[in-house]
Amino acid sequence: MEKNKRYVIKSLISLFAAATLIILSSTAAQEVEPEVPFVPTPLIVVEQMLKMVQVGKDDVLYDLGCGDGRIVITAAKKFGCRGIGIDIDPERIRDSRKNAIEAGVQDRVQFKQMDLFQAEISEATVVTLYLLTEVNLRLRPILLRELNPGTRVVSHEFNMGKWEPDESTTVRTGDQENPYVEDYWDLHEMDYWDSHQVYFWIVPANVTGTWKVTIPDITGKNELTLKLDQEFQRVRGEAFEGISPIPVFIKDEKIKGNILQFTMERKLKGRTESMHFEGRVQDHIMQGTLKIEGRPGKEKVKWKARLVN
Ligand SMILES: C[S@@+](CC[C@H](N)C(=O)[O-])C[C@H]1O[C@@H](n2cnc3c(N)ncnc32)[C@H](O)[C@@H]1O
Repeated sequence: MEKNKRYVIKSLISLFAAATLIILSSTAAQEVEPEVPFVPTPLIVVEQMLKMVQVGKDDVLYDLGCGDGRIVITAAKKFGCRGIGIDIDPERIRDSRKNAIEAGVQDRVQFKQMDLFQAEISEATVVTLYLLTEVNLRLRPILLRELNPGTRVVSHEFNMGKWEPDESTTVRTGDQENPYVEDYWDLHEMDYWDSHQVYFWIVPANVTGTWKVTIPDITGKNELTLKLDQEFQRVRGEAFEGISPIPVFIKDEKIKGNILQFTMERKLKGRTESMHFEGRVQDHIMQGTLKIEGRPGKEKVKWKARLVN
């Protein structure tokens, strides 16, 4: 009996040891090294980044690779938004939490120690980055897939390859006073460069495909076909009334978030009619208002399109 008891206890201990080993080795396998070292964005550049994307109190800002939390904390303190910082390095997360308390914004910010590639980011309305081009390029399909159209992305120094920025600017830091120096930041931080590049993108909706456009209350056929093709925010289009082609001009050749503006020029009773469309895309529907140039009494009409292919 005594022998049996000892056998059971020994087996349990071996089982526990084996389970612990499995857990430890799988945790070790999952451990990810930082892909980019910690180099803080100078506070003057932080300010420019936040102004460029026009952060406001209704925004939810994610800084992927948040370092000491300065972007998230500045955004919460100066612009009133909610912020989430993600960093793989536990020391950075400890610093960020301490800085948030000293800045008095701990109720509006959150810091999570994890791999940024594993983070759930779909609630973000603003994403900030200071990584490397190669890391941005791996992140690019995730941003385009997970973020809602219209979400603003701003990156310090590094671009996104073929996804061209909607705007970019150079911030010169050389001899400027830092407007955001607060005692919770290291006042003696080094700025290794006196000029910094900032890139800004708006996540585009996907409009590729064939759309049936319905214009309810104008003369002529009230259904047109619009074929759109897209690479990132760049959009090209062609339209048809029956089988007759109609020239289409996409405003700036771009979609801005989920807003598409375009003009169609069709021949009607011997004259050319310019139809200026503005529409909002949601899932497989695009709808908005249409202004027909030179048509008295028909200032703006509603239009709608559905994706058919
Ligand atoms: C250049 S610093 C930028 C810090 C901060 N965003 C700023 O602009 O001041 C990059 C940060 O990304 C973090 N990092 C690198 N690889 C990461 C990963 N895979 N997941 C999460 N954080 C990562 C590093 O620990 C570092 O703090």
